[in-house]
Amino acid sequence: MPVAIVTGASRGFGRAVALALADRGWSLVLDARGEPALREAAAALPAGGVHAIAGDVADRGHRAALVRAAERLGGLDLLINNASELGPSPLPELARYPVEELVRLYATNVFAPLGLIQSALPLLVARAGTIVDVSSDAGVEAYAGWGGYGSSKAALDHLSKVLAVEQPMLHVYAFDPGDMRTEMHQRAFPGEDISDRPEPETVVPALLRLLDERTASGRYRAAELLVPELVR
Ligand SMILES: NC(=O)c1ccc[n+]([C@@H]2O[C@H](COP(=O)([O-])OP(=O)(O)OC[C@H]3O[C@@H](n4cnc5c(N)ncnc54)[C@H](OP(=O)(O)O)[C@@H]3O)[C@@H](O)[C@H]2O)c1
Repeated sequence: MPVAIVTGASRGFGRAVALALADRGWSLVLDARGEPALREAAAALPAGGVHAIAGDVADRGHRAALVRAAERLGGLDLLINNASELGPSPLPELARYPVEELVRLYATNVFAPLGLIQSALPLLVARAGTIVDVSSDAGVEAYAGWGGYGSSKAALDHLSKVLAVEQPMLHVYAFDPGDMRTEMHQRAFPGEDISDRPEPETVVPALLRLLDERTASGRYRAAELLVPELVR
């Protein structure tokens, strides 16, 4: 059975990805900080190899526990760095962005994924595995108010790009899911009706396509992957 670690799997995109992988017979190590929601998400998955470990990805000890759980399952084929923070809501402009908040944001969105990659690397290399760093178009485009979160995703994109060069035996993807109707998206647009945004489940096939086709390492947008004739 292939094994994956999916961070931030208690709701939103991470939960939808975990369900799709479990349906395909993957063994999973899942996390999120809030234990009740994580337990509920794990309980909704097909019975079998699901290990839900509550904790903060910014915590080194928690990251080590995730990797140890994968090791107990026999190894690691896939690491999905999905857990992410938006930062303050409403989104502050850079001119008055509290730098302490930015430090916290980078701890979760940049340093934690890299720390988890570093800890998981021996297991991933042993299986010629795959890393997916969940990105955002805010890491590429300049939207007012998105400089904190967006710059953290730009940094994550660059880490993914360099890792792909340094670890050619792995597949390393920065994956931009596009807008999704989730708690994070609602926090980004407080008080707005976001019911026109797609559900996270509709984006999962794009990620599965990357995995199925073992597409070359790189940065991919879900919107392109959902069009069958694009991206090879
Ligand atoms: N939604 C969008 O429109 C959109 C667009 C572009 C990119 N993205 C990206 O897609 C990914 C998923 O976002 P989403 O919209 O599904 O977010 P979400 O609904 O807010 O879910 C985030 C998940 O991550 C967990 N999490 C957050 N901080 C964590 C931490 N420090 N340690 C461990 N778990 C943590 C949350 O649980 P706890 O809070 O209990 O920890 C939750 O399970 C993120 O990387 C996001 O940046 C989203």
